[in-house]
Amino acid sequence: MLRFFTAGESHGKCLTGIIEAFPSNVPIDIRKIDQDLKRRQMGYGRGARMNIEQDRIEILSGIRGGKTLGSPIAFQIENRDYTNWEQHMHPIVTPDESRKITKPRPGHADLIGALKYNFSDIRNVLERSSARETAVRVALGSMTAQFMSCFGINVVSHVTAIGNISLEENIWDIEQIGAADQSPVRCVDKTTEEQMISLIQETKDAGDSLGGIFEIHITGVPVGLGSYVHWDRKLDAKLAYNLMSIQGIKCVEIGEGSRNTALKGSEVHDEIFYDTKNGYYRKTNRAGGIEGGMSNGENIIIRCFMKPIPTLYKPLQSVDIETKESFMAAVERSDTCAVPAASIVGEMVAITVIAEEFLRKYGGDSLEEITERWKRCR
Ligand SMILES: Cc1cc2nc3c(=O)[nH]c(=O)nc-3n(C[C@H](O)[C@H](O)[C@H](O)COP(=O)(O)O)c2cc1C
Repeated sequence: MLRFFTAGESHGKCLTGIIEAFPSNVPIDIRKIDQDLKRRQMGYGRGARMNIEQDRIEILSGIRGGKTLGSPIAFQIENRDYTNWEQHMHPIVTPDESRKITKPRPGHADLIGALKYNFSDIRNVLERSSARETAVRVALGSMTAQFMSCFGINVVSHVTAIGNISLEENIWDIEQIGAADQSPVRCVDKTTEEQMISLIQETKDAGDSLGGIFEIHITGVPVGLGSYVHWDRKLDAKLAYNLMSIQGIKCVEIGEGSRNTALKGSEVHDEIFYDTKNGYYRKTNRAGGIEGGMSNGENIIIRCFMKPIPTLYKPLQSVDIETKESFMAAVERSDTCAVPAASIVGEMVAITVIAEEFLRKYGGDSLEEITERWKRCR
């Protein structure tokens, strides 16, 4: 079974990932991984950190001559900011007491993390709870995306809402969604894009922050990934679990999930048709490509809802963990809106789940063996 680990602190030396059970002979283009890392760093509304970090992957093991070996893939992404933090983040040197953080930010892991792990310095929490960790998930997702593309399975995403500005209509056209990379807010409608950009600017000037919604579309997914036979094998449940683990994501919707609740069953369920050329097919896809916990062959459509960034320039009430005195929590440096970046993380997390389930169904040791099994089942 494909599995992975991530490690690393936001201002530590580097971020590290290990992927286990990635099949052999899969061609991996390192430039493509760096491109996906760059896509995660872009987006209107991001903070100054993104100008310091220009993420690049360094493969340490498991890939030779551009192809996977079947052995664990270990990699790292250097934190370029570490040079400014070395004394303070050093594994051995005792950190400077005067730089201790005792003021927890509402909406972050700060307070509860410090209570749970018994820390007097909140930096011990925020270094790991930070969304910097998502760079590792993008790198490994980029590898699983390259693996899935060998079977015609591809993922795209776009931003459908930022704050109260949203697309008026659903966009299902994959090519149109693919053009989201050209937009600084990953929105494919020009008018909505401009409104989103002004809202981000206004919100930034007011010292506040924004959340929003992004949508992931996965095409070419074969019938029968996931299963109805046991609760923990359901594909929709797995996608929701993994996507909810992205920092700031508070809600995950499959297909027309929440909108369908206000409609009648006859208006919701996708009728089944058959012809000898296409086999079974649907004329609608309100289910978002998943029925009974399994992919039904239609595009998988997922919407993720992100809360506004919790670090605000406009201070919020909090309590110092050392003195127990109230104070107004203010910030160093932060994103105003990270929905476009989160949309890239979402793509990569979702395609990793698809790769895991794909391997569970057609699994084998090498790309050739898996291809043979996949072809036999078509
Ligand atoms: C790509 C990305 C970038 C983020 N950037 C920031 C940021 O600059 N400042 C901040 O306070 N939160 C940021 N967040 C959100 C926080 O990491 C998140 O809200 C926090 O860790 C608490 O986790 P929770 O919201 O899942 O409960 C970002 C999230 C993502 C996915």
